[in-house]
Formats: sequence, structure tokens, C-alpha cells
Amino acid sequence: MNKTILCIGAGYVGGPTMAVIADRCPDYKVMVVDIDAGRIAAWQSEQLPIYEPGLNDVVKRARNRNLFFSTDVAAGIREADIIFVSVNTPTKMFGAGAGRASDLQYWEKTARDIIENSDRDKIVVEKSTLPVRTAEAMNRILGSNDKGLHFDVLSNPEFLAEGTAIRDLESPDRVLIGAMETPAGLKAQQVLIDIYTRWVPREKIKTANIWSSELTKLVSNAMLAQRISSVNSISALCEKTAANIQEVSEAIGMDRRIGNRFLRASIGFGGSCFKKDILNLVYLCEHYGLPEVAKYWEQVVLMNEYQEARFVENIIASMFNTIAGKRIAIFGFAFKADTGDTRESPAIYVSRLLLEEHAQLAIFDPKALANAKLELQGVAGQVEYITDPYEAAKGAHAIAVLTEWPEFAEYDYERLYRIMEKPAFIFDGRNVLDHRKLYEIGFNVYPIGQRALAHLEKIK
Ligand SMILES: NC(=O)c1ccc[n+]([C@@H]2O[C@H](COP(=O)([O-])OP(=O)(O)OC[C@H]3O[C@@H](n4cnc5c(N)ncnc54)[C@H](O)[C@@H]3O)[C@@H](O)[C@H]2O)c1
Repeated sequence: MNKTILCIGAGYVGGPTMAVIADRCPDYKVMVVDIDAGRIAAWQSEQLPIYEPGLNDVVKRARNRNLFFSTDVAAGIREADIIFVSVNTPTKMFGAGAGRASDLQYWEKTARDIIENSDRDKIVVEKSTLPVRTAEAMNRILGSNDKGLHFDVLSNPEFLAEGTAIRDLESPDRVLIGAMETPAGLKAQQVLIDIYTRWVPREKIKTANIWSSELTKLVSNAMLAQRISSVNSISALCEKTAANIQEVSEAIGMDRRIGNRFLRASIGFGGSCFKKDILNLVYLCEHYGLPEVAKYWEQVVLMNEYQEARFVENIIASMFNTIAGKRIAIFGFAFKADTGDTRESPAIYVSRLLLEEHAQLAIFDPKALANAKLELQGVAGQVEYITDPYEAAKGAHAIAVLTEWPEFAEYDYERLYRIMEKPAFIFDGRNVLDHRKLYEIGFNVYPIGQRALAHLEKIK
């Protein structure tokens, strides 16, 4: 074996990232450890803990060859030459910076585990998304060991998107590797470059100073989320003016300076990263005495919340100002298509608001039902989790589309119309259905940022 790589944290990032490295570098031993024994057991089984297109094949090729999953964090650290840290860095929910700053307790714990279990120098790679200048703290903690050990800290943020993780890892737009600008730092940087160049063209591997690298990840997510909030803000104006957001965003996106990606109006962005990373950026700006910059970015999150709330208000207003006792079929609970992940999904917020209005929810999702159940655990109200879309829609007054699963457009809407209560409503929170066709079947159709197609006069 060439070198031994360890990844601490076997989540949505650690698992797929290490599976691809092991697949592409058969002469490296790659170990992935986690304190969550259930998760590790799942990685060792046929039923992987996360759904990601293409992931099964990659894992099968490498597992037990040069890819190993374990709960023995200490043994992993002892053996490793290079340690990626990919633990969760959620928003801090207590004390100073609560609701904005990053909660670095999991992160710091790994630093202490590394010191305790190391008996030789190692490279430590920040894979988690972290506040800019975290490496300073990491260096200080790792440097405080009394064994005379030297650790080189690198920043190698992950840009994969859930749902396309394997594609993104196998052919990334870029790989970013930040290092301290010291001889030892640059030498460590080269070790990581040598791994990625096994399958990533050298010109796509961008080196930077470590602070730029840390900050780039936060800013990338903030800019992506900003595009969604920008187009969503205009969707509200479209609904007032009979302009059509699909037409507007398509025409805007044809400008090569703007580009056509991330311009789809929807109920809003979700996922574990966007909100927490922007709030973290906001916190950092405040911390560094830049309140105007902080407010600028905070607005991206506020616009997202506005869009979710607006969607629910529209449902209530359209359904004669009451949804109490009405069955509403929720199509899609994942925060986006091709994942079972429901963290920060707009569906959580929308469902909670609908339940507060005493609607009865019938939730269907092709991959995210188990997570949906966990998200709504303890929320008062009547909720059913149903594995068949037609069962979910049976007797429903409305369907609310909350995830852009491609299969939703393929369903037999004539059949759905027949089995629903009348008047039947569809609220297309992702603009993925054929609205004209639905209207002709008999539905009252409410897209985002487009005129409603309603058979009922003055229904608002
Ligand atoms: N999910 C994404 O799409 C994505 C994309 C890019 C970057 N990121 C970033 O990557 C990081 C990880 O995200 P994720 O979605 O994989 O999180 P996750 O919650 O799915 O996984 C983190 C794992 O770390 C484990 N862990 C926590 N503390 C530990 C410890 N001391 N020792 C061993 N294991 C420990 C947890 O049990 C968990 O399984 C975050 O900083 C996130 O912001 C996420």
C-alpha cells in the first residue's frame, strides 16, 4: 500500500468522497470511521445509509479491497498518514452566536482525538465546511501536543451536490486545496495533489492559501443560494403582474454572463448546507465589524423563508381560507430530487404550517419517507406516510408538489383527478408539471411565479 488515508465522519460527504478516492487509488488504504455504529453497519451492508445515484457500484468495487468502514476512531488515527475530517458542523444553537455561528464541538473533539492517538506526524485535512480561520484554531490545538509531533493542516472543502455526488466527485469543476504558505504546508499540499491527479486533470486542481480555501466554500454556497433567492423574489412579482417566471428566467439565463443554472423558481432551497453556511458567513461578517455585509447576505435566508411562507399562504387562500380537516397529499419530502436527505427541506416547514391549520397530511416520497417520519416526529396533527402516490392522493383535496422528482411528471393525473375530492387543487412548488394539461383535466393549478389556472371564479 502507498499511504493510509482516514476519514473521520461517514456521512453524506465522508462516505462518497472516500469511496471515490479508494476506487481511483487502489494502492492507498482508505478507512472511514464514525462514532455512529448504526451508520457504519449500514456502510458495511447492502443497504447503504444514504441514497446517491451510482454510489452502490463505487462502494462495491472498493469495499474490503482498500476501503474499510469502522467505529474504531483511535485505531484509524494511529494507522493513518493523512486524516480527512468530515464531521458535521451545524449551526450553533446555544450561547454566543446561537442561531448563526458554526457549532465546532464535533470538530474540536476530532482534533483532540487526533492528538491523543497519534505517535507520528500526520497531515490533517479539513473536509468539513468551516468558518474562515478555523485552521488557526486547529493548528493551535494540534500544536499543543506534548509528544513533539508536527501536524500539517490543509483545507480541501467539498463541493459535491447531493443527488449528483458521484458524478461531481468523479469529474469535479475544481478541487480546491488550501495550505499554509510554509515549506511544510506546501509539501503537504503536494501530497493531496498527488492523490487527486489520479483522476482529476491538474488544471482543475486549484491551490490557494488556507484562508482563501476556507472562505471559498462558504461563499460558493452563499452565491448559489443567492441565485435561488433572487429568482424566487422575482417569482412573487410575476404572480402579481402576470409575467411568467419560467419565461423570465429562461430569457435571463440565455445571457452567457449570467448562465442558466440555478435559476429555477421553487418553494425555496433546503439541504443541510446553504442556510447554515450563509448564517455562518453572516456571523463572521458581524464578528469582523462588517454589519452591512452581514445584512446583505442574511437577506438571502430571509427571502427563502418568505418564499416558503408565501407558498402555504397561497394554499390556504386558494382553498377558501380553510384547510382544517382537508386531506392534502404531499408529493416529495426530500430537499431535492435524487436524494433521501430531508435536512432543512422546505417540506418540513410547509408541513408544519399545514398541520397548524389542521390539515391532514398524506406524505409520499420515493426515497425520503423514513427521514420525513423523523423530521415530523412529535409534531402534533394527523400525518400518514404512504409508499404509493395514488394512495396518498385518494380522497385528497389537494396535491402539493414539494420536490422535483422527475417521476412526478409521469403520473396518471386523470386517474389522480378521479380519486380526489372536488374541486381538486394542485400546488406545484417546483414547477415540474404540465400545468395546462392538468387544468384541462379539471384541476385548479397553482404554480410558482405564474398565473394560476383555476376553474373557480374569484377563488381567492
Ligand atoms: N451534505 C452535503 O451536501 C455537503 C456538501 C459539501 C460539504 N458539506 C460539509 O461536510 C461536512 C459533513 O457534512 P455531512 O452532510 O456529511 O454530515 P453528516 O451529518 O451526514 O455526517 C457527519 C458524520 O460525522 C460523525 N461524527 C461527528 N463527530 C464525530 C467524531 N468525533 N468522531 C467520528 N465521527 C463523528 C457523525 O456521527 C456523522 O455520521 C459538514 O461540514 C458540511 O457542511 C456537506
